[in-house]
Amino acid sequence: MSSYDNINSLSEVVDALPSSWYYDREIYQKELTSIWYKNWIFVCHSSALSEPRAYKTIQIGTQNIIVLKDRKNKFRAYYNTCRHRGSALCEHGQGVVKTPVLLCPYHQWSYSMEDGRLVNTSSFDEPENFKKNEYSLFKVRLEEWRGCIFVNLDMNAEWNIENLFHRSAAELERHPIEDMKIGYNWQKTIKCNWKSFWENFNECLHCPNIHPELTSLVPLYSKRIINPKDHPNWKDKIDSSDPKDRGGLSKGAETWSQDGSAQGHVISSLSEADIARGQLYASSWPSVFIGGYADHIRTVRILPTGSETLELSVEWLFEQKALNDPKYNIDNVVNFAKTVMEQDGKACEINQLGIYSQMFDKGVLMPEEYLLKRFQAWVKSQITVNKN
Ligand code: FES
Ligand SMILES: [Fe+2]
Repeated sequence: MSSYDNINSLSEVVDALPSSWYYDREIYQKELTSIWYKNWIFVCHSSALSEPRAYKTIQIGTQNIIVLKDRKNKFRAYYNTCRHRGSALCEHGQGVVKTPVLLCPYHQWSYSMEDGRLVNTSSFDEPENFKKNEYSLFKVRLEEWRGCIFVNLDMNAEWNIENLFHRSAAELERHPIEDMKIGYNWQKTIKCNWKSFWENFNECLHCPNIHPELTSLVPLYSKRIINPKDHPNWKDKIDSSDPKDRGGLSKGAETWSQDGSAQGHVISSLSEADIARGQLYASSWPSVFIGGYADHIRTVRILPTGSETLELSVEWLFEQKALNDPKYNIDNVVNFAKTVMEQDGKACEINQLGIYSQMFDKGVLMPEEYLLKRFQAWVKSQITVNKN
């Protein structure tokens, strides 16, 4: 555990990032090149691309990438750019390629799905010194972690699962993520800088006033903390069985759902301790956190769409047997998280509105915001290390 990871790491005043970092376009450009184009970015769960030739496009900053399952069931990623005169190859956000090759919609150059090789141009003759093998699609790095697809625009980036998650994925090891299936997905635009999303996710100072439903499901959050040990007098309550002191869900609740019920589908591989915790998280900056609950997983991806906007893209994963059960109502799970995410989105938008004040040059972090200190230090270090 990092030395940042407790409430005592903020016993002295720590300044937040400069307010201009939440709207300045030059800073945003710097963040694209040094953070978004250098780190592993979550695309989707592999069940989103279940059949051969299925594809999705993902917009990372100004870069549009095709991620597809080729005809041999291998995942591949290419820049969505034809080598002839630069047209996009896939016009839609997702779909299934109809032809055995990737065909440019403009003048119909064709490329192999398996290796990006230029198969054919559409000209009668090619110039004498034209070498087809010099016009392959530009490749993008792609790796899979437990059924989750990640890409990286940096061809030299290291794939190291030890470093992939900034909040460890070890707690999710008993969730059968790779075998689960997407039951529902949802997109939403939020008008705030992408860093505000992470800052909001990493603290619960806002919980009681922003999230009434969540604080009644997770009573500890009503104290504005995320870990029982964040309370100054936690040692006095060490034997308490009250979820308000020890964390976990309110009495009788099993999962993050509207009525708290897992409807008979608690994942059997989870430990008693996993279930007692109520929620388990892994996060991979800058693009995704994965939440594990008794009967489902939720992947929450963000992509910046400008210095003051982001797109949220959420997948809910379930075991196949839950999806097959006509009595299992996934709305119970989906609507609960949607409510919480809508509330967070609104809070982030209100936050964004206030930061333009010429009087406000930076905020200040309070003790409960120790994870923000860690996140902001990471952002600064990325910009320094990956200077372009
Ligand atoms: S731009 Fe793709 S074939 Fe011309
Ligand atoms: Fe929140």
